[in-house]
Amino acid sequence: MTQDELKAMVARAALAHVRPGTIVGVGTGSTVNHFIDALATMPVPVAGAVSSSEASSERLRRHGIAVLDAGAVQRLPVYVDGADEIDARGCMIKGGGAALTREKIVADLAERFVCIADAGKRVDVLGRFPLPVEVIAMAAPQLVRRFAALGGAATLRAGVLTDNGHPVLDVRGLEIADPFALETEINQWPGVVTVGIFARHRAHTCLLGTPEGVRTLVF
Ligand code: A5P
Repeated sequence: MTQDELKAMVARAALAHVRPGTIVGVGTGSTVNHFIDALATMPVPVAGAVSSSEASSERLRRHGIAVLDAGAVQRLPVYVDGADEIDARGCMIKGGGAALTREKIVADLAERFVCIADAGKRVDVLGRFPLPVEVIAMAAPQLVRRFAALGGAATLRAGVLTDNGHPVLDVRGLEIADPFALETEINQWPGVVTVGIFARHRAHTCLLGTPEGVRTLVF
C-alpha cells in the first residue's frame, strides 16, 4: 500500500468516531483531506464542521458540509486531525501544514482528539520532524537565538504565512523527551503564537495506518 492509501484507510476508519447529526472538528492536511471526502459519504450526514484552516473549510464547503465559526459552538464531541509525529503517550508534533494555531484552538473545544496517521508518524521520541512554531515576525530573530540555546536550529519557513498572517519557524535538532515541559516553556516566550507540540492537547486515540490494516492506539 502507498502512504496515500494508508492515509485514506485511516480517514475512512475515523468515521466510526463521528456521530451522524453532530458537529465535528476537522483538522488540516493530506490525511484530513481524505477524512473530509469520507465525511461526505455518510448516509446520515454531520450537522456541520468547525474547521482548522481555510483549505479544509473550502474542501468541506465543496462537499456541501456547513462550516461553523469556532465561536458558534461551546463543545465538540470529537476533533479529527493528522500529525507529523506521535509518541507512545499520544503527544504530537503538528504544524507541517502551518495550521497549528487553529488546530490547537479547535482541539481545545473537543472532548476527544482522534489522530489519523500512517504508521511512519509513530515515533519513540518527538523531534526528528522539525518543530513548527508560529511566531510574530518582529520576534523571530530573538526566538531563533532562544532555540539555539536549547540546541535547536530554527529557520523561517520560506514563502509561508499562516492563515493568521504570521511566519513559521521550523526547529531542527530538538530531542523532545518531555513534551509537556517543553510546550509549557516555549509558550512563555514573547512572540510565540503557538508551538507545534501538542502535549496538553494530545490525542486520546490514534488510528494508525499499517500495511496490515488500521491499528487503534488508545492513550
Ligand atoms: C497541519 O498543520 C498539520 O498539523 C497536519 O496535521 C500534519 O502536518 C499532518 O499532515 P498530513 O496528513 O498531510 O501528513
